Amino acid sequence: MAILVTGGAGYIGSHTCVQLLNHGSDIVVVDNFSNSKMESLDRVRELTERDFPFYEVDLLDRASLEQVFKENEIEAVIHFAGLKAVGESVSKPLHYYHNNLTGTFVLCEVMEKYNVRNIVFSSSATVYGMPDTMPITEEAPLSATNPYGQTKLMIEQILRDLYVADSNWSIALLRYFNPIGAHVSGRIGEDPNGIPNNLMPYISQVAVGKLEQLSVFGDDYDTADGTGVRDYIHVEDLANGHLKALQHILDTTGVEAYNLGTGNGYSVLQMVKAFEEATGKEVKYSVAPRRPGDIAECYADPTKAKEELGWVAEKGIEEMCQDTWRWQSENPDGYKRGQVRT
Ligand code: NAD
Ligand code: WQD
Repeated sequence: MAILVTGGAGYIGSHTCVQLLNHGSDIVVVDNFSNSKMESLDRVRELTERDFPFYEVDLLDRASLEQVFKENEIEAVIHFAGLKAVGESVSKPLHYYHNNLTGTFVLCEVMEKYNVRNIVFSSSATVYGMPDTMPITEEAPLSATNPYGQTKLMIEQILRDLYVADSNWSIALLRYFNPIGAHVSGRIGEDPNGIPNNLMPYISQVAVGKLEQLSVFGDDYDTADGTGVRDYIHVEDLANGHLKALQHILDTTGVEAYNLGTGNGYSVLQMVKAFEEATGKEVKYSVAPRRPGDIAECYADPTKAKEELGWVAEKGIEEMCQDTWRWQSENPDGYKRGQVRT
């Protein structure tokens, strides 16, 4: 029996594949490389010294996805595949709704057809919209402020409805806070296209000399130093959360949401300082206007994941910065070799 990992070539997917393989699980990976490269999967094989079936398949292509289920005995799915850039989702809403929603519909229909009803879904803290109480528990009100966030909210609802219709489904909705960091080897990590939207890749590209300076989006928020506060979580801790969630859904049925965060908030300026201290590199920055849609602070109450999944985030901010830097400095152009497929 194998675990199907959709979007397994991506940032969080590749780290989760390494942990699954090291844990002894068999995996099958599906990705269309819309935001990733073959090279990441080559490096997953290199790191684990294990091979696995890979299919270059778009989830929207039902016939090809069915083939994957025909050729493999799938026990559960970890569903990472989706588009994730908030700004792009505002300018290309149809593309985002089509890819993320239809991809999930096709996946779930094929799962039902092949009698697979265990799924771990990549949701996001973005489903809390503009939260007014910190830390955020899973019971906080849900809303979305952009099409990307809407797709996460809608998919959560669709999966809940599936369970209502058929109680054989077992579903974990994992709401990630802000994943950063990379595998300790420096061989796999986050490889954004073009200029990064997110803070940590931006900081590390300034440090490596690819970008001039960081724009700090607003220093007049109601936070200790006026800059935005987030719950940064090491991608390795996040990947481990998937293994714990998988064990849990294989033992039960139902549908549950879990916050995957550390419970600690760091401001933008604290992150700049932590990165400089961990790496010895200077990060030039200047203060710019607030980014539309941003909130002052966002950090998790991760108690439910601890109590029900036995999961806690273990890695601190220093390790997150050091591992990000190892990946960035040893791969200044990301998975460059992956552009030439072999
Ligand atoms: P990523 O872009 O690195 O990985 C997603 C992968 O899915 C990519 O390899 C992409 O090529 C693939 N993909 C997209 N659409 C596909 C389709 N139709 N068919 C097949 N493959 C497809 O992103 P990531 O950071 O690893 O995020 C993984 C998941 O976690 C996403 O669903 C994302 O929305 C969610 N998430 C990410 C963050 C974050 O900050 N990185 C936070 C919360 C939630
Ligand atoms: C963090 C902080 C910015 C860039 C986004 C998505 C969310 C989730 C994770 C997928 C904020 C500040 C940033 C920069 C800055 N993704 N910042 N200068 O906005 O918390 O969350 O990624 O689900 O849905 O919205 O993360 O890394 O973009 O920003 O000052 O160049 O850094 O204002 O305070 P965010 P981020």
